[in-house]
Amino acid sequence: MSEVQLSLNSVDKTYYGKKIEAAVRAVKNLSLQISKGEIVALLGSSGCGKTSTLRMIAGFEGVTGGTIQLSNHEIQQLPPAKRNVAMAFEGYSLYPPLTVRDNIAFALKAERVSRSESDAKVMEMAKFLEIEEILERYPSSISAGQQQRASLARALVRKADLYLLDEPMGQLEPQLRSVLRVRLKQYLQEHQMTTVLVTHDQTEANALADRIAVMEDGELQQFETPTQLKHRPANIYVGTFIGEPPMNTFAAEVKPVGKGFQFQLEETGELLDYQKVDFQQPLRAQLIQHKRIVLGLRPHAVKLGKGALQAQVISNQWLGDQSHIAAEFANRIIVAVSHQREEFQLDENVPFHLEAEDLHFFDAENGNAIAHGLEM
Ligand SMILES: Nc1ncnc2c1ncn2[C@@H]1O[C@H](COP(=O)(O)OP(=O)(O)OP(=O)(O)O)[C@@H](O)[C@H]1O
Ligand SMILES: [Mg+2]
Repeated sequence: MSEVQLSLNSVDKTYYGKKIEAAVRAVKNLSLQISKGEIVALLGSSGCGKTSTLRMIAGFEGVTGGTIQLSNHEIQQLPPAKRNVAMAFEGYSLYPPLTVRDNIAFALKAERVSRSESDAKVMEMAKFLEIEEILERYPSSISAGQQQRASLARALVRKADLYLLDEPMGQLEPQLRSVLRVRLKQYLQEHQMTTVLVTHDQTEANALADRIAVMEDGELQQFETPTQLKHRPANIYVGTFIGEPPMNTFAAEVKPVGKGFQFQLEETGELLDYQKVDFQQPLRAQLIQHKRIVLGLRPHAVKLGKGALQAQVISNQWLGDQSHIAAEFANRIIVAVSHQREEFQLDENVPFHLEAEDLHFFDAENGNAIAHGLEM
């Protein structure tokens, strides 16, 4: 097991407004252990507590409860300047009276890095982020995307125990973003920089992070590698949040038949028939215990063209490399993705099937995953 660099232990954050009713519990009992050199993404919808978490780690917000350890030292009581943490802020926070060059070099001055070394580092970083041309300009005269890169440069140029990047590429156009993403990952890995990166873009999280912490409403939902999040989501929230287009879900009743099962969809009573499939223990026992479940089906797993089920096409879009088909099934919309150009017409009834190994099973009561495919 690699060395832990950052540890959040039951961290809580409540913002108390002027009135007690205005209190917001933004982060709830958050525990995370991040290894030295690891790149972790905090991913979640707007307002789920990502920035609050970063700001507590950096020291710009106090914790309401819990502790934070960096390189085995408790830091939650230290002021930001004593934590040796470099942060690129969501709102950039560049110093307006300083040029981009001086903004980037600011922390190096405080670290008493020599002038020549500082110049070389600033230039290396400016080239890396493609902002050499604006080094003599002031923050008020450059675009949001340029400010964002200047702010990122200012954080990355420092020597710190931890790098916190809050939406570091949100303002960049897609092409530059994908180029910089690859470069940034290489840079962080090469220099063994432990990094927590905030994003609500899952492509960015997948591309950059070794592990992703999915948050919702202040709570950690799952902390796993991108592959595990996709294949073994811990609950319905993660299942439907990760993956594009989102996972289809259907509430169903479990009916054991022979060695297999039928799942009767609650909405219309339609049967998904897997009575000839060998559901082995302990999955079998688990499913029998759950009378009601939610089935999750990834759009890529909806196999169109043949099968006992039928859906009526509502839309069929060719996106250049894949078809997205939405169709009505069991009073709901089911979305399918196919890697060939499908010619289905509107209102056409299309047969389809779902392999048992592609099903995700969730507990209908609490949303937690029971199993994925035929494994337990
Ligand atoms: N200074 C503050 N005072 C009161 N409430 C706050 C404060 N800062 C954040 N909040 C609230 O805390 C919750 C979490 O906010 P936070 O900024 O951490 O979310 P986020 O995940 O970074 O969202 P986004 O993706 O929009 O940046 C939100 O409900 C927000 O309104
Ligand atoms: Mg934020």
